[in-house]
Amino acid sequence: MALTQNELKRAVAEAATAYVKEGEILGVGTGSTVDFFIDAIAPMRDKIPACVSSSERSTKKLEGLGFKVLDMNEVEEIGVYVDGADEIDGSFAMIKGGGGALTREKIVASVSKRFVCIADASKKVEVLGRFPLPVEVIPMAARAVRRRLEALGATVTLRDFVTDNGCHILDAAGLQIKDPEALEAEINSWPGVVTVGLFAARGADVLLLGTEEGVKTFEKP
Ligand code: A5P
Repeated sequence: MALTQNELKRAVAEAATAYVKEGEILGVGTGSTVDFFIDAIAPMRDKIPACVSSSERSTKKLEGLGFKVLDMNEVEEIGVYVDGADEIDGSFAMIKGGGGALTREKIVASVSKRFVCIADASKKVEVLGRFPLPVEVIPMAARAVRRRLEALGATVTLRDFVTDNGCHILDAAGLQIKDPEALEAEINSWPGVVTVGLFAARGADVLLLGTEEGVKTFEKP
């Protein structure tokens, strides 16, 4: 019988525990796959001095299991950051932010030596863009940024959601993102954009992909 998406997510989450280094601060992302990862590292609590988390949601779950969670400003560098993705392409560029935590995810990823992406097979794509691209914006810029995204050919929806940073999210559907790094730089340069959910300049280093044939490990090409 085919494995469910949750079973695939749990399998990659468990495989990611092999990347956790004893005595090192661990970066923890956000989402349903990461929730499985947090459950999987619970027995390793005594070996992980502290975590840095990319959302209030993950922080709450980590603290509930007895982990120490540090503020980013207390930390110089993180060894390994484990997080999910909404889509990942062949160059390991990703769309992230389906859960709304994209800005903090990008900040934590930026100080992490290694980004381990955990994803079920449905997330692996040839070209990014089937999943609507999240763009976090300062609320007063929502309309102006929406117009710019529409000019790129996107159909844009304002998400009914306020981020951990008190900002809004526009979801841009219908883009075929063939040059993720260029689009990331362009959208990030628009006034009022806090973060675009393209993780290309700093993509993943390792991909653990949950498939029917088991967890497959890929290193950044
Ligand atoms: C959170 O903002 C996202 O970037 C998540 O990493 C992404 O949405 C993956 O989520 P799931 O693990 O729930 O699919």
